Amino acid sequence: MKGEHKATLSFSDGTPSIEMPIYKGTVGPDVIDIRKIYGQTGKFTFDPGFMSTAACESKITYIDGDKGELVYRGYPIEVLAQNCDFLETCYLLLYGELPTAAERGQFGAEINNHSMVHEQMHRFFTGFRRDAHPMAILVAVIGALAAFYHDTLDITDPESRRKSAIRVIAKIPTLMAMAYKYSVGEPFRYPRFELSFAANIMQMMFGTPCEDYVRNDVLVRALDRILILHADHEQNASTSTVRLAGSSGANPFACISAGISTLWGPAHGGANEACLVMLNKLLADGGVSKIGDFIKQVKDKDSGVKLMGFGHRVYKNYDPRAKLMRESCHEVLTELGLHDDPLFAIAMKLEQIALEDDYFVSRKLYPNVDYYSGIVQKAMGIPVSMFTCMFAVARTVGWISQWNEMISEPDQKIGRPRQLYTGYPTREFIPMNKR
Ligand code: ACO
Repeated sequence: MKGEHKATLSFSDGTPSIEMPIYKGTVGPDVIDIRKIYGQTGKFTFDPGFMSTAACESKITYIDGDKGELVYRGYPIEVLAQNCDFLETCYLLLYGELPTAAERGQFGAEINNHSMVHEQMHRFFTGFRRDAHPMAILVAVIGALAAFYHDTLDITDPESRRKSAIRVIAKIPTLMAMAYKYSVGEPFRYPRFELSFAANIMQMMFGTPCEDYVRNDVLVRALDRILILHADHEQNASTSTVRLAGSSGANPFACISAGISTLWGPAHGGANEACLVMLNKLLADGGVSKIGDFIKQVKDKDSGVKLMGFGHRVYKNYDPRAKLMRESCHEVLTELGLHDDPLFAIAMKLEQIALEDDYFVSRKLYPNVDYYSGIVQKAMGIPVSMFTCMFAVARTVGWISQWNEMISEPDQKIGRPRQLYTGYPTREFIPMNKR
């Protein structure tokens, strides 16, 4: 991160101009180091929504939003999705390199070893209403892991941080499946060491004591791909939340819980759920013939209606994950004999119409990963309310890798943005009887 070039900031209010270093990344836009602006000028920079602000330096994930490229540790997402499984991808994100066969074996065994949760945790679930949203449960039980695993809470110790990372990656599928089982009133299932990460999720969700889950390799592969595609996405809202929470020295389980809370919002991880709700409503309202009316509504700013699963802060091109998800969607629907599924037909038609419409074209609004991931999950029998939980299971490795990267930095500081204050200046207090 060395800068040979400089930027000069000049002012029209008499403040002397200042010079700021410009740094180059390996790829992507240069950044201007503005850290000394306040000290040298007494002024803050103003960037709500972080439209132009790089909040950290990172070596994990790179997105080229204009080209529609996503790269984990230097490997394009398409290459990883076609050649690796989720645990290999986790290893890559956590440790920076793809594992050898021996490392992969050891990593898988370590994840297996930590996949059960403390038996006492089972009691947490009975405190929730059966109709609680599983994301609400996940936020709580992941935060509660800190109450069980005190031995890895020393965030200054790299081995302790590594162990916490393994624990949270290994346990979140078990806890997510428990949240599901609780909602349908079925007994919890324990993880099975002989199964892959994705197959294990399926058996914990869909197996019962009366009947083992019969594995379908096409569905398992599709779930594995969903996990790979969602594993990391550089400094998105939930990851930035995890970093901000972690910057105060909070324990890793608390930080991941904060990330899950942020992910829950419909503008972020809740979008695939919202997208499926939208497609279902369109189907109920008349199907393909009503797409034109719906698009009109979306284009009318006063309607408050958005085309869910479209648009992205960074991608101003087709989201590369959406292409891969669309491919998996075809495979799953073909495997299950659902290719004439009316929901899928509406999704395809809506996508086609939107991609030809000037409103979407001029704003560079393309389908994002959530547009198809909801349809795939629904076809696989995963209930809509679990979609965001599945996203959280996948993103946990990204969150914890980014958290670890931040904590490992020698001059890491607490995250503390400033503000443009537009409220009252100091004013006189009026006693209650005179207000
Ligand atoms: N439907 C209709 N119009 C849209 C949509 C959409 N889905 N997305 C953006 N626009 C419009 C905006 O109204 C705005 O129009 P204007 O310039 O006339 O005012 C323009 O496109 C730019 O959009 P912004 O809201 O400024 O873009 P921003 O980067 O802030 O928002 C976001 C990105 C939140 C993802 C937005 O596109 C959206 O709400 N999409 C739908 C929800 C969704 O699919 N989220 C998933 C994101 S991916 C993920 O989290 C895995």
